[in-house]
Amino acid sequence: MKILGIESSCDDTAAAVLDGTRVLSSVVASQNEVHEKYGGVVPELASRSHIRSVLPVIRAALDHAGARLEDIDAIAATAGPGLVGSLLVGLSTAKAIAFARRLPFVAVNHLEGHLLSVQIDEEVAFPYLALLVSGGHTSLYYAEELGQYRCLGATRDDAAGEAYDKVAKVMGLGFPGGPVIDRIARAGNPSAIRFPRARLKPRRGNAPTNEKRFDFSFSGLKTAVWQYVRDNPIKDDQNAADLAASFQEAVVDVLIDNSLAAAEHVGAQRLVVAGGVSANSRLRHRAQVDAAARGVTVHIPPMRYCTDNAAMIALAGRWRLERGQVDPMSTNAVADLEL
Ligand code: KG4
Ligand code: ZN
Repeated sequence: MKILGIESSCDDTAAAVLDGTRVLSSVVASQNEVHEKYGGVVPELASRSHIRSVLPVIRAALDHAGARLEDIDAIAATAGPGLVGSLLVGLSTAKAIAFARRLPFVAVNHLEGHLLSVQIDEEVAFPYLALLVSGGHTSLYYAEELGQYRCLGATRDDAAGEAYDKVAKVMGLGFPGGPVIDRIARAGNPSAIRFPRARLKPRRGNAPTNEKRFDFSFSGLKTAVWQYVRDNPIKDDQNAADLAASFQEAVVDVLIDNSLAAAEHVGAQRLVVAGGVSANSRLRHRAQVDAAARGVTVHIPPMRYCTDNAAMIALAGRWRLERGQVDPMSTNAVADLEL
């Protein structure tokens, strides 16, 4: 069965064709140059850019897969969470194609796509703990089995990727900030500046489960870096590298410590790290080393499936279809869709 996946929840327009679990093509059109000068994603520009890209991206995905629209058996698209204007472009296009060609249509939760992205090239057995860390999200989910996810924690303010992007802006490094900070931090001393680590006390969540929560907070760190740069203007490249490395170490410390504490809490032996920030070299290294010391195995998807893509949406859609889920044409985009 060939499935076409479409993703447009934020600032990447993506389409992919899967045959079974095999990725035949995965095309991503980034909008970085559109948002770069604003230092962050501008929702209205993102929607307009998706409108321009969505059909060429779908066409390219079909071409790379050596498929025609007539060969496609089902369509999956992201319905949320994300920017509502952005989501609507991919979702409406997917529904229109499904309607015109009388194909089954499946709405996919973007977060489930990320949680399953690790399954694209390898088979990771359930249950596993997943740290989902991107520009929009920083959350911990316990994936007990396909379709059963328990949220064990989330950021109470900024997402980790957002903190990277804002710190890069303060440092005058451009957008997106994560890759640049990652690169320049390699020449820096992570202990040069002691930035705060928000270690929130695990607290009980809401009824009915009252489950222990492992939440994150990055806005205090972001402000600390801003104040530091205000009081100590960056002098040279070494100074910038030390600043980047020290900020990054604070982020990574919190991400790893919280993830391993949550893994211990649920008795998870596998930790999956997904989302755009999982491309971070320091996070990848520390996750491997620190988790191994606690007997936890780490699985990180290949880089191209860490950031937003449609292969993970097609995969999640395929599994939903296999379980008999088909969604109606009345399905709407939901900005805060929960998993
Ligand atoms: O998952 P993603 O492509 O989009 C969503 O936010 O859903 O993640 C993008 C985020 C951006 O904030 C970007 O700065 C961050 O991922 N990022 C990184 C790295 N590469 C991308 N952050 C740290 N280190 C990186 N190497
Ligand atoms: Zn994402």
